[in-house]
Amino acid sequence: MTDAHAGPFIAAIDQGTTSSRCIVFDKDGRIVSVDQKEHEQIFPKPGWVEHNANEIWNNVQEVVAGAIEKGGITAADVKAIGITNQRETTLLWDKNTGEPVHNAIVWQDTRTDALCRELGRNVGQDRFRRETGLPLASYFSGPKVRWMLDNIDGLRERAERGDILFGTMDSWVIWNLTGGVNGGKHVTDVTNASRTMLMNLHTMEWDEKIAQSMEVPMEVLPEIRSSAEVYGEVKEGVLAGVPVASALGDQQAALFGQTCFSEGEAKSTYGTGTFLLMNTGSKIINSYSGLVTTVGYKIGDEAPVYSLEGSIAVTGALVQWMRDQMGLINTAPEIETLAASVEDNGGAYVVPAFSGLFAPYWRSDARGVIAGLTRYVTKAHIARAVLEATAWQTREITDAMTKDSGVELTSLKVDGGMTSNNLLMQTLSDFLDVPVVRPMVAETTCLGAAYAAGLAVGFWPDTDALRANWRRAAEWTPHMDPAKRDHEYKYWLKAVERTMGWLEHDES
Ligand SMILES: Nc1ncnc2c1ncn2[C@@H]1O[C@H](COP(=O)(O)OP(=O)(O)OP(=O)(O)O)[C@@H](O)[C@H]1O
Ligand SMILES: [Mg+2]
Repeated sequence: MTDAHAGPFIAAIDQGTTSSRCIVFDKDGRIVSVDQKEHEQIFPKPGWVEHNANEIWNNVQEVVAGAIEKGGITAADVKAIGITNQRETTLLWDKNTGEPVHNAIVWQDTRTDALCRELGRNVGQDRFRRETGLPLASYFSGPKVRWMLDNIDGLRERAERGDILFGTMDSWVIWNLTGGVNGGKHVTDVTNASRTMLMNLHTMEWDEKIAQSMEVPMEVLPEIRSSAEVYGEVKEGVLAGVPVASALGDQQAALFGQTCFSEGEAKSTYGTGTFLLMNTGSKIINSYSGLVTTVGYKIGDEAPVYSLEGSIAVTGALVQWMRDQMGLINTAPEIETLAASVEDNGGAYVVPAFSGLFAPYWRSDARGVIAGLTRYVTKAHIARAVLEATAWQTREITDAMTKDSGVELTSLKVDGGMTSNNLLMQTLSDFLDVPVVRPMVAETTCLGAAYAAGLAVGFWPDTDALRANWRRAAEWTPHMDPAKRDHEYKYWLKAVERTMGWLEHDES
């Protein structure tokens, strides 16, 4: 460790879709040390995605120990630890043994499609939208809980007896960190709760009526707390005694880490999927354009801050699929080299509707297509179309955001693993026709969790101090011929149309 990183510090755990990591930050919001470990993606059937929660908890403990060791620091230097997590991924476990009753059902999993249609009754997708801000879709947690209660023998009886706890990954990590079967805290924060379809956005409490409609017993639900407050202390391990002081869904954490604290400020995070969130202040803006309304964050006793979100299920995961399943590239960065070897997409378009289409369509019957194929098309054109898919999907979200909010986008703050791809960032700026800006710390997810934890324990005085840490590292400006952009967008939308209605109702 160098003098540049003198303590004290804040640590953050990011329990993500593909990996868990722990990052230690100093007072300037600079990274002191990082440790990261991937976990297995379990695909039992087409459309099903699961994680082993025990493997995840082991990895979390390992990366915490790893980051502390690499930083050459001790628990005494760490003033708080914050938690951020893949959202919606759903777990039920036995509170007496700490054993999960089933693998976690991951947010991308589509097994609850038919159940969601059934829950819509005669009203349809928007049955719970006014209360929860969300359309009925397999993406959210509530129907996943219901699926487990319906499909695991004897589980509903155990749940009604009070022996079973539900949690998204924040709850699972916090419960284990704070002692597990020995007094672990069963809590979640408002941002994670807002993704269950069981929380009322107006009251910030579980909605008993919806829970009843979804047949989820109230007994299993965690206590809903703010995103920045001390929930308890780490019980054992290298950080024993350190306060656990924040929880935010990963996308809300990135909003926080990008310091989007004012109404109208927005960020877009490019990881497994892409999620564009705009701060809408104290306003709960109903979307009529296919976005969702969600909680941005809530600092301690302060009023909650809401946001509008455009969720894209598959962006970085398409690059992974090209690497692991298609063998088109050996590493993710190679997609850029391959794509840059040609001038354009050669007429090809890839629409990765692997889990159906999320925003702005919410179509679970859609499946992926590669459109526009001719003998002319090479793998380099496909690589280019893969990158363009991420940029066009973002464009569809920003169009919806402008319609819903009335705010014209003037620039876009970006972060996440895919932002290291220059060609993608240039393409994004070209397709959106606005500057794209990346901050010095692209690990905004962990940073946001650290910021919230630091605020909770007085490590940072206020959000102004956090804003002062934000520094621009790179910017891309648009230079695409507008007629060409319009032409390409039209063909993209045609390709999207071809994904829809692929599944028959009784198949999904
Ligand atoms: N140079 C690159 N070009 C294109 N895509 C890339 C590049 N580098 C990484 N990716 C993609 O970015 C994703 C990883 O980004 P990131 O590390 O932000 O995701 P993550 O936070 O681990 O995801 P999650 O939180 O969902 O687990 C992977 O899907 C990978 O395919
Ligand atoms: Mg992530």
